[in-house]
Amino acid sequence: MSRTVPPIVAAYPSGRPRRLRRTPGLRALVAETVLTPADLIWPIFVTDVPGADVEVASMPGVRRLTVEGAVRAAERAAELAIPALCLFPFTDPARRTEACAEAWDPENITNRAIRAIKAAVPEVMVMTDIALDPYNINGHDGLVRDGVIVNDETVEALVRMALAQADAGADILGPSDMMDGRIGAMRAALEAAGHKEVAILSYAAKFASGFYGPFRDAVGASGRLVGDKKTYQIDPGNAEEALRAVARDLAEGADMVMVKPGMPYLDICRQVKDGFRVPVFAYQVSGEYAMLEGAIRNGWLDRKVVAETLVGFKRAGCDGVLTYYAPEVAEALRG
Ligand code: PBG
Repeated sequence: MSRTVPPIVAAYPSGRPRRLRRTPGLRALVAETVLTPADLIWPIFVTDVPGADVEVASMPGVRRLTVEGAVRAAERAAELAIPALCLFPFTDPARRTEACAEAWDPENITNRAIRAIKAAVPEVMVMTDIALDPYNINGHDGLVRDGVIVNDETVEALVRMALAQADAGADILGPSDMMDGRIGAMRAALEAAGHKEVAILSYAAKFASGFYGPFRDAVGASGRLVGDKKTYQIDPGNAEEALRAVARDLAEGADMVMVKPGMPYLDICRQVKDGFRVPVFAYQVSGEYAMLEGAIRNGWLDRKVVAETLVGFKRAGCDGVLTYYAPEVAEALRG
């Protein structure tokens, strides 16, 4: 919503804005933006590789989880009233290939984790990631042929991946690959397969960012990545291109859209909300987490800044935020 400054502001001393800041009760009464656990999606990393279920070095406080660990995380989400988890796999390096067939194997770690969570805690929504990077020998989100990330073959692979995740019981699919035409292809395939109620939260305004570095460590893609992702992710300076990407994904059948990364792109969040009036989410990505957590652990910032960053996303028009801080913040909100 575009906000206009109210035309009438009484001059001092008739107007004293501090009157409404005097007590916690008054401040609560006039609060414009309120953060609740229902605004949060909690991304977690899952693995079945022996010994890999440890803390991620560049994301202190974040551990990769086994399937059982993921079920416990879902139970914790339910207890804290966090509506959804988002799953990212750390795949066995031996299963990463150029063809990426592991990505749509019904028995891959993501699909097994989806089934386990939905069986144990059905009320917690499970969101997934659709992109080939955790399964790809070269760390790219798409299939690579002669050094080129090929669009249309990748879309076919992503459709298979989407169907396998929907079959496993995913509630929300999160295509993060940035190929052209993927949302339309997935939506058509989901309809044809009878998965008419599976939602798509499209990573639509996804920028080619340096802030994904720690995530690539978490899924084991950083050492592998050959080159960069600039032929499919958006240039950080391009707002209009991001808005076109949002329009395209909505026209192709996305139910919700995402802006990613979060904090350096709050202007995009606001423009997407004002321009399209659809549910908008920001992803407070791994590098943002690392930055905050590094400063907090060094004693340079107080942990309270985390909630402040999340209120900022809501004030910028977001309906919710994907954040590694979800359980900690939900716990704090509970008081
Ligand atoms: C995979 C994907 C990435 C993230 C989510 N899905 C990394 C990338 O595009 O390189 C980043 C999330 C984060 O940094 O927390 N396509």
